[in-house]
Amino acid sequence: MEKGKFIVFEGLDGSGKGTQINLLVEEMKKRGRRVYQTAEPTESSTGGMIRDALAGFVKRDEYELSALFLADRIFHNANPKNGIKQFLERGIDVVCDRYYYSSFAYQGIDADLDWVMSLNLGCPEIIRPDLCIFLDADIDICDDRIGKNRFSREIYENKETQCMVRQRFLEVFKRLENSENIRIVNAARGISEVSSDIIEIYDSVK
Ligand code: TYD
Repeated sequence: MEKGKFIVFEGLDGSGKGTQINLLVEEMKKRGRRVYQTAEPTESSTGGMIRDALAGFVKRDEYELSALFLADRIFHNANPKNGIKQFLERGIDVVCDRYYYSSFAYQGIDADLDWVMSLNLGCPEIIRPDLCIFLDADIDICDDRIGKNRFSREIYENKETQCMVRQRFLEVFKRLENSENIRIVNAARGISEVSSDIIEIYDSVK
């Protein structure tokens, strides 16, 4: 049986990932694909620990956070009930909101980037995506969207950090350009314009 495709969305907080993921998944289903939509951090117990840290309830250092994201990601891939691996093997496509690129861009600022990258890329349980779509928008636009839609801000949701995170994403994408299929999409436009670009990219990958 043909394996499913594994597509990851990345972007700054407030870049519109949620909306664009829903639109792509809808389009894929219309075309008769079976799709499993998922996100990191997951709903696992490790995911809960991560969320407490992101909310600022528990203070954790960036190495500790990197390891928690790694453990959550291994679970996300390998668990037999709803792990990414078994869906792909059954021919089901997987669309994931954030993946290891986020660990590189967020934790890779205060933790050693090479260390974070080698933990993730060197782990045989962590599957490499077929496509990563990065929604790139101006920091101010993202910050406005965070302000409007959120009740409170998480530890990374301030302009200064978001600016460093964006730089890190772009730097990491350069480093991975020969080994991964990463596409940067200008997300500072209307929802349908961005969406049709994404569908075009999706079509070119199959
Ligand atoms: P969340 O509120 O769950 O989703 P989003 O902001 O994408 O709608 O936040 C996830 C946060 O976790 C986001 O700020 C990025 C961060 N993160 C990391 O720092 N490292 C990682 O490996 C992942 C997957 C996420």
